Amino acid sequence: MGKFIINGGKKLDGRIDLQGSKNSALPILSACVAVDGISVIHNCPDLTDVSAALKILECIGCRVKREGSTVTVDSTVVNRFDIPDNLMREMRSSIVFLGALISRFGAASVSSPGGCEIGLRPIDLHLSALRRMNVRINETGGVLECTTDGLCGANINLSFPSVGATENIMLASVGASGETVITNAAREPEIVDLADFLTSCGAVIYGAGESVIRIKPCRKLSSAEHTVIPDRIVASTFMACVASAGGKALIEGVCREYLAPVIPVFEAAGCDIAFRKNELFIKAPERLSRVKSVVTMPYPGFPTDSQAIIMAMLAKSRGTSIISEKIFENRFRHVPELIKMGADIRVEDGRVAVIEGVKKLYGANVTSCDLRGGCALAVAALGAEGKTVVDEIYHIDRGCETLETSLSQLGAEIKRE
Ligand code: EPZ
Repeated sequence: MGKFIINGGKKLDGRIDLQGSKNSALPILSACVAVDGISVIHNCPDLTDVSAALKILECIGCRVKREGSTVTVDSTVVNRFDIPDNLMREMRSSIVFLGALISRFGAASVSSPGGCEIGLRPIDLHLSALRRMNVRINETGGVLECTTDGLCGANINLSFPSVGATENIMLASVGASGETVITNAAREPEIVDLADFLTSCGAVIYGAGESVIRIKPCRKLSSAEHTVIPDRIVASTFMACVASAGGKALIEGVCREYLAPVIPVFEAAGCDIAFRKNELFIKAPERLSRVKSVVTMPYPGFPTDSQAIIMAMLAKSRGTSIISEKIFENRFRHVPELIKMGADIRVEDGRVAVIEGVKKLYGANVTSCDLRGGCALAVAALGAEGKTVVDEIYHIDRGCETLETSLSQLGAEIKRE
């Protein structure tokens, strides 16, 4: 299943480009189903999760073409609304096809995506919202059979600002009669990017990026051309690589605003950070300082997806750092692997990690358990003495475009086997 061989202990220095956002590209590719036309999506990252989404689009009849980072989706020929179980299972966020399929066909049949490495990941908020929009949903044998005799706009108050639920509601609303108002909506930049794409297709959406989003009914969506926003989580991953290994780097193609939640943590750890247009310059201190407390929250709070890589870089910091994971219930699976490398981390009630910074980390054979946890192992390995073998790197390939290529450009000794 592939592994990274990393020889750590070398300072990094160089410049790298930033990929398009996985968590923006996926809902936008789903949205192409709700649109009857040929959409062109630029800056679409080449990831296994994106490939899985393209397979789903082809399976329901769309014509899909990738030329470099541009993906063209012709949904004029889409001819089915059921997604086979094997494709649904390839990627957790396949549930976001639900709203788009119902919007286009008035029906959808998908298997419930089920939990994954980081938690149960229920979809109750998705389903209760769709039911409020006049969708009948029968859950039998792990398959969700959804039908409607007409989507109706609704006032939906989310008990939690779920990213996926917000996206599904937006995708269903564009096909509904009447206005939909989402209260306590997710505010992530990926929500704004999805709204921008839908608006360019003719939707009328107010408030994306805020807690209340209004989606007006619209007769028909026509295809559009769109450029996906940069991946803020991968940007923070590259930053953590530099912080952990030492040295400096220029990361091109960033959006400063999206990185606002993580910058204070890197600066508290002693990194110098400067921006020039869409470039970020980061320089690591000789030794990182502890960060007293990091608490993951919905945007604009500290992103849960950056939790693991921050923990990895703080493993060698001076002092005690505390990380509280408030979003997912099982997102510390990288901790035992970091401990194999010499980290001193203890987890309390599954949600709080106390990191006692150590002077050195040592290369070891470690296993990726999920996408961001796998990236954390690479971050730690770059700052460790000796050779680290990170296996099960298919997790990393789900969200990072050829991580080894980017890190090699910064002078890291990393290769894929
Ligand atoms: C999206 O997942 C991202 N995935 C995740 O990134 C990210 O960690 C997460 O948002 C939070 O920012 C994509 O965008 C493809 P949620 P999503 O619904 O939509 C609970 C990565 O590494 N919840 O905001 O699944 C849920 O259990 C991935 O790129 C319900 O209880 O996240 C969790 O505790 C990992 N019921 C919390 O809300 C529901 O119906 C946040 O989930 C839905 C969610």
